[in-house]
Amino acid sequence: MKEALEDLRRKADDEIRSAKTGEEFISIKTRYLGRKGLLTSLLRGLKDVTPEEKPVLGKLSNDIKKSLLEKIEKALEDITSSEKHSSLSKDRIDVTLPGRGVRCGKIHPVTRVEREICDIFSTLGFSVVEGPEVELTYYNFEALNIPGDHPARDIHDTFYVTDNVALRTHTSPVQIRTMEKQSPPVRIISPGKVYRPDSDISHTPMFHQVEGLLVDENITFGNLKGTLTFFLRQMFGSGTLLRFRPSFFPFTEPSAEVDIQCVMCRGAGCRVCGHSGWIEILGCGMVDPEVFKTVNYDTEKISGFAFGLGVERIAMLKYGISDIRLFFENDRKFLEQF
Ligand code: PHE
Repeated sequence: MKEALEDLRRKADDEIRSAKTGEEFISIKTRYLGRKGLLTSLLRGLKDVTPEEKPVLGKLSNDIKKSLLEKIEKALEDITSSEKHSSLSKDRIDVTLPGRGVRCGKIHPVTRVEREICDIFSTLGFSVVEGPEVELTYYNFEALNIPGDHPARDIHDTFYVTDNVALRTHTSPVQIRTMEKQSPPVRIISPGKVYRPDSDISHTPMFHQVEGLLVDENITFGNLKGTLTFFLRQMFGSGTLLRFRPSFFPFTEPSAEVDIQCVMCRGAGCRVCGHSGWIEILGCGMVDPEVFKTVNYDTEKISGFAFGLGVERIAMLKYGISDIRLFFENDRKFLEQF
């Protein structure tokens, strides 16, 4: 039995020496030391040996077991630590590589101009209010005195959601919503998105407007002219020339359009101004008494003016941009210039 034990130890040692992977060591361990392993079955023979031999052989087999276990555990430990080492050296971080660089966002030019417009009117005491983009046709048309047969109401000029709900075609419905809630005096501007089914170099299906409304006692066309002149000179420079041209809107009477002298050619005439030297910049007028009646304002006591301007149009003139679609393509090379 002693020889058998020694023989087993030699074989096991040989196998341990030639094993390389963790699996190999584990399989040696179960094969020799497992519950049904070679050593265990050899030990079953202990019951047949003499009482003198028993303690000697018992000690020997324990020694064998202990030494095999130690060798296997040590080999397994070495394997894990060398695996760790090689994965660490493979994934090593090169701290000398240049960083990826953080790109900083910028305010979109349309937002910038919109904020600038609101800032200028804020200095005149106007407060900023907003209204819904999905609007009842009542607020977008009827309440603004726009009759049922007006061309703006055509499906070619308005995105309808249902018969009486549409994407607002202008910011003027905010005038009505404000006056319904508030009695005079009123002094608001309302920036926001508006929608019309148009698309070419000077039209996009969505664009931005800023509406203005001022209502109080004794408001005259002179107040309108003074306010808008102040605003346009803040926006385009103190020497900016402008002219008020008679026009028509169903919700203002009298109505006007305001032109500024072409910022590209300084009035000499160019492609941008259609060789007229002037560029139309906003619509305005004295609030039509019909509109005041809809919101139960006393037309004998109060009067007011309103105006609406296109934000992209102002941004195009301010920055010399000839195609409105550039604002919405969001090409970073374009946007980063602002
Ligand atoms: N709502 C008009 C438009 O979109 C502009 C406007 C507003 C005109 C207020 C007069 C008064 O064309």
